Amino acid sequence: MARILVVDDDRNIRRMLGATLEGAGHRVSEADNAERALELVAPGDTDVVLSDIRMAGMDGFGLLKTLKQKGPAVQVIMMTAYGSIPDAVEAMRFGAYDYLPKPFSAEHIRRVVSRALEVKELRAENRRLKAEVELLSEREVFLTASGASRKLAETAAQVAASDATILLTGESGTGKSMLSSYIHSKSPRKDGPFIQVACTTLSEHLLESELFGHVRGAFTGAIKDKPGRLEAAAGGTVLLDEIGDLSPVVQSKLLYFLQEKTFERVGGAATIKVDVRIIAATNQNLEQLVQQKRFREDLYYRINVIEIHVPALRERPAEILRLAVHFIERAALRHKKNPLPLSAEAQKTLTTYAWPGNIRELKNVVERAVVLSRDDSIALSDLPDRLLAGARSSDQSQTLEEIERRHIELVLEQAVTLEEAADMLGINVATLWRKRRKYGLD
Ligand SMILES: Nc1ncnc2c1ncn2[C@@H]1O[C@H](COP(=O)(O)OP(=O)(O)OP(=O)(O)O)[C@@H](O)[C@H]1O
Ligand SMILES: [Mg+2]
Repeated sequence: MARILVVDDDRNIRRMLGATLEGAGHRVSEADNAERALELVAPGDTDVVLSDIRMAGMDGFGLLKTLKQKGPAVQVIMMTAYGSIPDAVEAMRFGAYDYLPKPFSAEHIRRVVSRALEVKELRAENRRLKAEVELLSEREVFLTASGASRKLAETAAQVAASDATILLTGESGTGKSMLSSYIHSKSPRKDGPFIQVACTTLSEHLLESELFGHVRGAFTGAIKDKPGRLEAAAGGTVLLDEIGDLSPVVQSKLLYFLQEKTFERVGGAATIKVDVRIIAATNQNLEQLVQQKRFREDLYYRINVIEIHVPALRERPAEILRLAVHFIERAALRHKKNPLPLSAEAQKTLTTYAWPGNIRELKNVVERAVVLSRDDSIALSDLPDRLLAGARSSDQSQTLEEIERRHIELVLEQAVTLEEAADMLGINVATLWRKRRKYGLD
């Protein structure tokens, strides 16, 4: 059953069309002029409009144009008493689906309307599929849901044009990796490679050879020449993730590279020159590492040409629910469920929680809730206990550190392994390790 509006100043024609279409199972409303028709139509609530062309006041073309501006999905069929070709051509040019020359038979009307509905349905289906493909594709969308992240995206787009080294600072899970790939995608290098190197996970020697490559025989197991990530990223961008964890040897080699744009492979003599843009990211306080002589000052200044600080999620609470809804939609699609709304209590808990694991933690929590939910909304009981405990303990006198400490303690109690705890917190194991030691929880 479709919703159809008939617009004609001739009462007999309205009556005839109404009877025919209602007989075919549709719901029909009527208007005797264009102005009245516009009052009756709200975007999305009418499928087909059948309109006369010549009417007092606004004519059928005026109505057609206005309707298409309001909601392009509505199918408009023009009726013309004279069956004149120029009118028909004009109508199609303005986006009419078809035209009906008067006089018409009931059979003809039903056929044209049902074709218009089929086409409309196909178009809607097409749009749905496209949106699904977009959502399902691995490519994640960088959401700018508040003033804070819109500013981030703006700054990123500005600095993308240059080749200057960028330092991204911010807590774990705030979106530093995502922002760096966004910068790459907005840069003139966007068609070149974007390569991430995690500086924490590899041993010093492995990392050196991973970055700069090695020659055959450089060390046991180096059975052939191998280019490093810098070479692989030629013409593109390299993200050095967790730069604060670099060993002194790799720090000095990187400094040399940033100054001279050249390096040698491990064990090699040939000087290699590559054109890459470096983005470095860290969740540690590099300045403090410099003071503690754990990070080279000269390297710090080389890297920190442009610093972009990515604020913690709790510093941009306006974003929490927007991101949550976005992650719910994606997760629902992935798990073939309906995207459910968040109950009022769930919303409140999500917005008051401190999110030590930031956006990554939010994403994990929401994904879990989508899988767990049995109702027609995401309830408080679909959220992990730590969120409730966290919300309750968030009394005003506590400092963020105290809240973080308490929270990590809670999660460590719940989790069986450190990996699991890190996963629940949405931070990596190395970060959890550091925080655990800092708070004396080990
Ligand atoms: N603006 C955003 N819009 C949509 N998703 C985001 C946004 N920012 C971050 N995310 C998501 O949050 C998660 C964490 O982001 P990301 O890995 O970039 O954080 P990070 O700061 O690099 O963390 P770490 O310090 O642990 O490396 C990712 O799954 C990412 O897709
Ligand atoms: Mg990262």
